[in-house]
Amino acid sequence: MVNHIQAGLTIFIFVVSVLSFWGSLRTVNPYGRHMQPGQRHTLPALPAWLLFEAPQLFAFALTFWLSADAPSTAAVILFALWQAHYCYRALVYPLRMRDRHKRFPLSGVVFGILFNSINGFINGYAVARAPHLMDAAWLHDPRFVVGLAVAVAGWLINFQADTILIGLRQDGSTGYKVPYGGLFRYVSSANYFGEIVLWCGWALMSFTPAGLSFAVFSTANLLPRALSHHRWYVERFPDYPRERKAIIPGLL
Ligand SMILES: NC(=O)c1ccc[n+]([C@@H]2O[C@H](COP(=O)([O-])OP(=O)(O)OC[C@H]3O[C@@H](n4cnc5c(N)ncnc54)[C@H](OP(=O)(O)O)[C@@H]3O)[C@@H](O)[C@H]2O)c1
Repeated sequence: MVNHIQAGLTIFIFVVSVLSFWGSLRTVNPYGRHMQPGQRHTLPALPAWLLFEAPQLFAFALTFWLSADAPSTAAVILFALWQAHYCYRALVYPLRMRDRHKRFPLSGVVFGILFNSINGFINGYAVARAPHLMDAAWLHDPRFVVGLAVAVAGWLINFQADTILIGLRQDGSTGYKVPYGGLFRYVSSANYFGEIVLWCGWALMSFTPAGLSFAVFSTANLLPRALSHHRWYVERFPDYPRERKAIIPGLL
């Protein structure tokens, strides 16, 4: 029964990814620089991020420990990576944000809570139950080893980019500046590039449909947003580096 629900929800995430990609190409998600002035029904950004990212932590952890009979080393490594990232994203990242007056749309918080609960559940269940992850040989499989290296590289790129962006407001300003350093040398959204690399790596090392669905969703969600960010920078900063791409170094 639970595995049918998990499979159905995994298909649902693929469908949401297609809809999200199509919708985001037409209308940019209205938070951060793309929030409309005077937007109604908003929450302060700090508790908003905490509220909608925390389900990734709890849904994954609860499902994993309730579903795993005797978790393998590979499954525990996947669990640890997921939890480490979401401890950072849900608990540490909101506290690092400089602008304490920033707001976030309530609709985004509600969508985030629902989506992240489902995503935490399907991935926690997949990692706890996938037969190939129970096999000790998976730890030496090239998909696991390469996926782990890619995921760690993606996380480091994302963390470095977050740090550069947060540093732009260390003087107490609340506006926008052109970011430099790290992968911003090549792309306008180095944070999104790192995030996509992270989840592609995680999908490869877990090798489950649920892992793949989150890599597809992250790409479908962040790629159009990165294109909007890039256009936004080019329109506002006449000296914006011309060789810089939107999200994929040298390509897009
Ligand atoms: N897996 C997923 O599907 C997913 C989805 C969304 C986000 N994320 C991750 O969550 C993190 C935050 O995402 P986001 O969409 O908020 O990223 P973002 O639009 O790039 O903003 C990140 C932070 O930096 C500030 N900032 C951005 N550009 C700036 C500039 N030029 N000058 C000064 N400050 C600047 C933003 O302030 P403002 O808020 O004032 O713009 C915000 O606090 C990223 O690491 C992203 O990868 C993941």
